[in-house]
Amino acid sequence: MSKKTMTLTDNRNGNTYELPILDGTVGPSVVDISTFYKETGMFTFDRGYTSTASCRSEITYIDGDKGQLMYRGYDISYLANEKTFLDTAYLLLNKELPTAEELENFSEEMKKRSFIHEGMKKLFDSFPDRAHPMAILSAGVSALSTFYFDHLDIDTPQEYTEMANRIIAKIPTLAAFSYRYSNGLPIIYPDIKKGFTENFLYMMRSYPHNYVDLRPIEIKALDTIFTLHADHEQNASTTSVRNVGSTHAHPYAAISAGISALWGRAHGGANESVIRQLEMIGTVDRVDEFIARAKDKDDSFRLMGFGHRVYKSFDPRAKALKAIRNDLVEELGINSELIEVANKIEQIALNDDYFISRNLYPNIDFYSGLILQSLIIPKVMFAVIFVIGRTPGWIAQWIELQEQDVIKIARPRQLYVGTQDRTPEY
Ligand code: ACO
Repeated sequence: MSKKTMTLTDNRNGNTYELPILDGTVGPSVVDISTFYKETGMFTFDRGYTSTASCRSEITYIDGDKGQLMYRGYDISYLANEKTFLDTAYLLLNKELPTAEELENFSEEMKKRSFIHEGMKKLFDSFPDRAHPMAILSAGVSALSTFYFDHLDIDTPQEYTEMANRIIAKIPTLAAFSYRYSNGLPIIYPDIKKGFTENFLYMMRSYPHNYVDLRPIEIKALDTIFTLHADHEQNASTTSVRNVGSTHAHPYAAISAGISALWGRAHGGANESVIRQLEMIGTVDRVDEFIARAKDKDDSFRLMGFGHRVYKSFDPRAKALKAIRNDLVEELGINSELIEVANKIEQIALNDDYFISRNLYPNIDFYSGLILQSLIIPKVMFAVIFVIGRTPGWIAQWIELQEQDVIKIARPRQLYVGTQDRTPEY
């Protein structure tokens, strides 16, 4: 069978180049330009990589037009509705969903590894009051490597599997401790009897000798948020993890870089912005004014939590969370002005031609912001919750890179537009 190619003509000199076309199992084909510079002496230019596939991957597939998201071939709604976050983490790491016994073993492994070295408390102590938990978390994950310096061999699958488990298990503890220390609150150690998600909520909300009773719906809501964030293809933080991993850095360094990338308000900060905006609108009678502003071409105001760069028919993650939000509000009897403001905005946007014609429906951040608020998670922790969910995805991507036959160090080139030849005669 002849290979598929694309012919490119350089109109300046009539030279033609044959570029191979590669097909995936599903989704757009790609033009292989890996020898382009060698053959043409030119680079390609693609700011923000909007037309560039940076790797082959078997982990996550997104079809933005259809509103489809799959991890390892499983639809996200199946995983969100029928499986737990630990099932999903196991699937991302091991390519298959766990059997009941494998899940039990994985869960035990997570519990056993959830404690952090007592020496790490000095690290938390060294940050000033109100230090941002994302800063502490990123430093904490990097610092974990110093406690396991005998086990940083990234060429041994057994060692990097251990690193993976260690990071996933300890991230909730580091995250909860980051918050408690930065607010001067007593830390709560993990409870070996509690499951992964319950343990995190427990460490966030309990006090010594006053252990919070968590309702199953609260644990389910947070667990679903973790599942829906577990991976999202080659986004900015995942690309950062892969770039750092391409230099043969260990997962602690790569995940720490991923956390830093996620901290940016254009990435992990969107659901915090949703709540800040709802609080700013404040009362139901002001909603119409802000809807009018969102529709006004001369006003830069945008409704936070509406629209998505990739999902153009709907955000499948938002669909799963909307049901959870409704259950949570009903079961906990939440009745706040904030929820009423959110409900009114949602109703207007879902029925207004401005929003419908531009595919501006509520995205994952709209619902996750409201759910986290209902779970009494402080806004400053919203991006941290995203990190806990995304860590298995980042690690799966790091492992996939590591298991390739050849690892190419990520090294893009540039279009130089600066000055030249300024050195004086000397
Ligand atoms: N409110 C009001 N109008 C909007 C909104 C919004 N949230 N989003 C887009 N529009 C309008 C634009 O003004 C534009 O109108 P026009 O065609 O009359 O000029 C049209 O919809 C298309 O907008 P673009 O910016 O071209 O759409 P794009 O797909 O590039 O942007 C984005 C997507 C950035 C998410 C945008 O919808 C937005 O800013 N939303 C609010 C912020 C937000 O919720 N971000 C989180 C996204 S989810 C995530 O990242 C995990």
